[in-house]
Amino acid sequence: MHNQSPAADPKSNPNPPAASPVSSPNGPDWWLMMKAFLKQGRRIASFAPSSRFMARKVIDGINWDSARCIVELGAGTGPITAETVKRLRPHTKLVVIELDPTLCSRLKARFPNVSNVEIIQGDATKFDVLLAERGISQVDHVLSGLPLPSFPEELRHAVLETSSRTLAEGGTFRQLTVMPLIYYKMYCRYFDDVRFRFVPLNLPPGGVYVCRGFRPGYTD
Ligand SMILES: C[S@@+](CC[C@H](N)C(=O)[O-])C[C@H]1O[C@@H](n2cnc3c(N)ncnc32)[C@H](O)[C@@H]1O
Repeated sequence: MHNQSPAADPKSNPNPPAASPVSSPNGPDWWLMMKAFLKQGRRIASFAPSSRFMARKVIDGINWDSARCIVELGAGTGPITAETVKRLRPHTKLVVIELDPTLCSRLKARFPNVSNVEIIQGDATKFDVLLAERGISQVDHVLSGLPLPSFPEELRHAVLETSSRTLAEGGTFRQLTVMPLIYYKMYCRYFDDVRFRFVPLNLPPGGVYVCRGFRPGYTD
């Protein structure tokens, strides 16, 4: 069950990101991502932040009026967070989870004082625990920037199974990729309904898997 209480019905978020009073790591987003990629390779998986075209494609079709809770996994410097925050209604909670401390500091500096957005430095493979600590047991959409295919099998399962347990009926699991369609079959083994949206205007070109209807109990 969601634990969020509905607010009045304004059409836009009354708490847009303000100028940042929080100290932020030095350098532009692309430089922070590049440095993290050079240091950590597979755990970052991408040398540049997603483009705004990619970010918009990830969240395209979300029903902002009905969504009560959205969780973002592996937010990096926040390109998807930014597009989501623009559209977020006051009654919707956005929980953003990023493991890398430097990237997480950038996120906290970039999105300060947004009352319905919580940024957590933590491990997304345990996102059910992080949500439970906040009294959240159900989410409407999972937006994943995690490099899932390069995760060890048990961690990939942890993310997908946690998603299956926590997604509300009609909810979606949305996974971005910079290797278009390569893992289509893998997601089809986990979900009943998998659609792929190609995004050419990204560095490198990529896309988004939008998955529904998790198949419980699936193992490789
Ligand atoms: C491909 S980048 C995507 C960043 C961002 N979403 C974007 O679109 O530009 C993957 C991100 O996942 C983060 N990440 C990797 N493993 C993680 C984990 N176990 N928990 C949380 N974040 C993780 C990395 O630190 C990195 O920021």
